[in-house]
Amino acid sequence: MEVIIAKDRQELAEIAAGIIREQIRRKPNSVLGLATGSTPEDTYKRLIRYHKEEGLDFSKVVTFNLDEYLGLPKDHDQSYWYFMHDRLFNHVNINPSNIHVPDGMAPDPEAFCDWYEEEIERAGGIDLQLLGIGGDGHIAFNEPGSSLASRTRVKALTEQTIKDNAELFFGKDKQHLVPRFAITMGVGTILEARKLLLIAFGKRKASICKKFIEGPVTSMVTASALQLHPNAIVVLDEEAAAELEYKEYYKWVQKMKKEEYQKVLDRLAQ
Ligand code: GLP
Repeated sequence: MEVIIAKDRQELAEIAAGIIREQIRRKPNSVLGLATGSTPEDTYKRLIRYHKEEGLDFSKVVTFNLDEYLGLPKDHDQSYWYFMHDRLFNHVNINPSNIHVPDGMAPDPEAFCDWYEEEIERAGGIDLQLLGIGGDGHIAFNEPGSSLASRTRVKALTEQTIKDNAELFFGKDKQHLVPRFAITMGVGTILEARKLLLIAFGKRKASICKKFIEGPVTSMVTASALQLHPNAIVVLDEEAAAELEYKEYYKWVQKMKKEEYQKVLDRLAQ
């Protein structure tokens, strides 16, 4: 796992958006896995800017979102479908038929989940999956106890997640409005992406970041499954990185990569 520590939220968004821009430039028909929540909002703003100012081209990009609340229609202002259109899709030249967000109103949610898995496969698999992390360590809506081999399915949300999401989006006293279930990609589905990019910022994420990066791999903290992936990048700001035991080492690795590694390669090639 590569851990990059940015000095603040802005730098974090710049690094994350830079990685996604690079992916699209290298492979214009990239399949991107996308995430919702407050964390990726600034990253999406930067991608919109790259589209408007530099012509970053989304016309061949295919997207699959991680999750959606069960029972919320697309046009509900708290649905993830709405979030993604509002924060990104409506502002770039993506082809609407290339967008996939789980359907929270699917009459047979389990059959829908199987279809979603097949669609990912038909698209050739996910090239780059963007992730945030919930307060209890979940990726997508893979709450504690989710199998690390799990596939797209319906999950019941924990009280903590319902509370966190009520505060951030629905409004502090609106817990009763947060759906109790969601359709979510599984941990196993996420681990099949060719590259993972998890981002987190702020003090409230510091203790869970220490757990998933430096603690044991466990289904009780599903983000810890990133330790099993050969190509996972984690970008944190200083606040989210505050409790990491090896914080200075991660910074040193990044510095050495920039300054020293090329020199070593040059010397070896002589
Ligand atoms: C929800 C989403 C996750 C997201 C998490 C964190 O639970 N299902 O994908 O990572 O929220 O949200 P935030 O970025 O607002 O902290």
